[in-house]
Amino acid sequence: MISLETERLILRPWEPEDAGFVLNLYSRWEVQRFIGNHPQVMREFAEAEERIRVWRTMDHPLHGAWAVQLKEPLQPKTRTPLAGTLLLKSIPASGETLPLQPSGDTEIGWHFHPDHWGHGYATEAAAAVLATALHGGLDRVVAVTAPANTASQRVCQRIGMTRLGQTNRYYNALCELFEARAPQPQPD
Ligand SMILES: CC(C)(COP(=O)(O)OP(=O)(O)OC[C@H]1O[C@@H](n2cnc3c(N)ncnc32)[C@H](O)[C@@H]1OP(=O)(O)O)[C@@H](O)C(=O)NCCC(=O)NCCS
Repeated sequence: MISLETERLILRPWEPEDAGFVLNLYSRWEVQRFIGNHPQVMREFAEAEERIRVWRTMDHPLHGAWAVQLKEPLQPKTRTPLAGTLLLKSIPASGETLPLQPSGDTEIGWHFHPDHWGHGYATEAAAAVLATALHGGLDRVVAVTAPANTASQRVCQRIGMTRLGQTNRYYNALCELFEARAPQPQPD
């Protein structure tokens, strides 16, 4: 997985030492409430360590789970500069048997700490990952959000994704679907 840099952010692989931040992030209901069909907060440090272990084994030239870190740390300086997670991964199709099977599509997603909402960091990080994916060889990237997750839908729109309406195609859930397509080569 390649690290990326934007004006205000560094997107880098998760490290085992980040488990405290991961637990802090995913133990919050305001972060988890729109994630999954049965949202649950993370409770154990071991779950955070396991999440990082799984993220670090993602093996695809373009997919990844990035730790999004601020270049300028928050004050006071002892606070972590980590802001959230940016994901680019295979999205499962809806289906009757578990585990759900890959749909063949790639999804982009974002989970940020509430201390870092309202600054455009999710949009900045997502735009960088989306551009890298579409210029790196993916023809199409989708994003799905819970119908009520308007904050996430605004991120989709700010990074130029097209709203396609609601679908049941993924995750056995009714989702708002967005897509971005790679620019087509212009004829000479
Ligand atoms: C979805 C989520 C990442 C959105 O976070 P966010 O901070 O609202 O999104 P951005 O980082 O793009 O910030 C945009 C906001 O910052 C403001 N902003 C301030 N400075 C900005 C800047 N320099 N550039 C862009 N926006 C800026 C914008 O006006 C916007 O506010 P608005 O939506 O009230 O108009 C966040 O709500 C979250 O992590 N939720 C929990 C997890 C989740 O649900 N993930 C999605 C699952 S589908």
